[in-house]
Amino acid sequence: MQVSISYDLEALSRKAAEFFVALSEECIKKKGRFTVALSGGSTPVRLYALLGCAPYKQMISWERVHLFWADERFVPRDHRDSNYRNLNENLLKKIPIPAGNVHPVRTDMPISISVDAYEEEVRAFLRTSQGKSPRFDLIILGIGEDGHTASLFPGSEVLKERERLVASVGDEKHKHPRVTLTTVVINNAANIFFLVSGKEKAPIMKKVIEDRDSSLPASLIEPKGGNLLFLLDEDASRFLTRINHKLKLCH
Ligand code: 6PG
Repeated sequence: MQVSISYDLEALSRKAAEFFVALSEECIKKKGRFTVALSGGSTPVRLYALLGCAPYKQMISWERVHLFWADERFVPRDHRDSNYRNLNENLLKKIPIPAGNVHPVRTDMPISISVDAYEEEVRAFLRTSQGKSPRFDLIILGIGEDGHTASLFPGSEVLKERERLVASVGDEKHKHPRVTLTTVVINNAANIFFLVSGKEKAPIMKKVIEDRDSSLPASLIEPKGGNLLFLLDEDASRFLTRINHKLKLCH
């Protein structure tokens, strides 16, 4: 686990964009493609906007990049709460990515069928060899103040999933039913970036990074043989005490 602390959300987002570009170059050089799963929420919006404009946009071979979603709210794609709409407005509309490289969760069918279809798409596209678990090159996640990540919420039955890569989440606590990647595929990723900003996230960051409080879904994210990087701003890192894992970068 590494913790990168930047001055503010803008610096954090630029750092994430730099890592995204570097990782895309490395993966495309090595394998000819770069597979990424992206989260919703507000924190990564600046990163998405940066990736869609100079200089980062031109540094990425978009025809070799494949974008998936870490989770989706089960609403029409033009709904204001849609993660697809969030990414489309901030990034997809601005980049020369082939339509076949964009793999959204289908929300125009019953959710159980959508879950099966998305799982099949992830398995079919990412299968590296017979029987091996699908492995994203990068998954970008956020963290809620309750310690949720993607649509994995505290106490959810989905946290016990050990087989399925994709699951649906829906109860009265959530405004919309959701579809989410499970820890099975998330913890098999080669790289996981958590983007976390703001003083309201400081308490949960201490519980996740230092206490590893296992009641919190974000604490269960431990990529097997992969890199785990927390990209925080100063405000979100202010309760962290053990300086040794603070990879302080230039502002
Ligand atoms: C979602 C996200 C969710 C998000 C956290 C943090 O679809 O809502 O996947 O897990 O990352 O809620 O959201 P903020 O970045 O807005 O704090």
